[in-house]
Amino acid sequence: MTEWKGRDILEGGQFTRQEIEHVLRTADDLRSRLEKTKALDLAKGYLLGALFFEPSTRTRLSFETAMHRLGGDVVGFAEASSTSTAKGETLADTIRTVDQYVDVIAMRHPRIGSAREAAEVARAPVINGGDGAGQHPTQALQDLFTIRSELGSLEGKTIVLCGDLKYGRTVHAGVEVYRHFPLRLVLVAPESLRMPEEITSRLRSQGLEIRETTDLEAALREADVLYMTRIQRERFEDAAEYERLKDSYVLKREMVERLRPQLTILHPLPRVNEITTDVDGMSGAAYFRQVRNGVAIRMALLALVLGVV
Ligand code: NCD
Repeated sequence: MTEWKGRDILEGGQFTRQEIEHVLRTADDLRSRLEKTKALDLAKGYLLGALFFEPSTRTRLSFETAMHRLGGDVVGFAEASSTSTAKGETLADTIRTVDQYVDVIAMRHPRIGSAREAAEVARAPVINGGDGAGQHPTQALQDLFTIRSELGSLEGKTIVLCGDLKYGRTVHAGVEVYRHFPLRLVLVAPESLRMPEEITSRLRSQGLEIRETTDLEAALREADVLYMTRIQRERFEDAAEYERLKDSYVLKREMVERLRPQLTILHPLPRVNEITTDVDGMSGAAYFRQVRNGVAIRMALLALVLGVV
């Protein structure tokens, strides 16, 4: 049995299949309990530190919403420029400080490995809400939870991941949770934004079926799920390169109707223009339901690492 209390949540690859199933079951349970009441009291008296050194709408608000719905409270910041980071304080010192106040820390930071650095100095469990182009494990579980909610089961399904697979941390974490299930992945990206080879070759050696292509239309014909992502402008060193690649893939309603009308469509959001808004009304467009599912997943993870569920 996994000891959840006090555990750091740092990357998609840290979970076994049983642990993933446990998080999803806990999220299901908390979601149905929340249908009967506005807030639970499982985390009453506990405090979350939400430290967002990098822009965020959904991840921060859904951590805060999750903590409030569990009956707990939140302190934190949404902008590093308003904190002592602007005076030159190190991440380790900021974390050591917040650690004196709170029971659990959720953080986002532009540097790969930052959540792990924080976990090394914090007594409280640290949950990674995105470390640069690294990992985003809570989003990965939210995505898996959404696919399961939409399709019923993951077995034998074909999931197409499209867009910026080089810098996109949601897909880096995502593949690490998908690999536990008997499904197929098709990776669609411009040549220069392919998923790092060290990830794909490791997953293949672990037995995951992965195909790579640059052709979205061909991939859609066999897709059960399309997971669309944004080209990560803030990770590019060369602005012209971003301009050249930013519209590589745009999903339009006409394409879904022509190629795969029953397609389930996910996107971690924010969307720039990789899905046209006329797709939003289609029954398979699940990206706002996916947002909602993020609250249940974060409630589950917070309650587990606090040891209150
Ligand atoms: C993603 C992120 O921040 O990595 N957004 C999110 O957390 N829902 C995706 C992105 O910014 O493209």
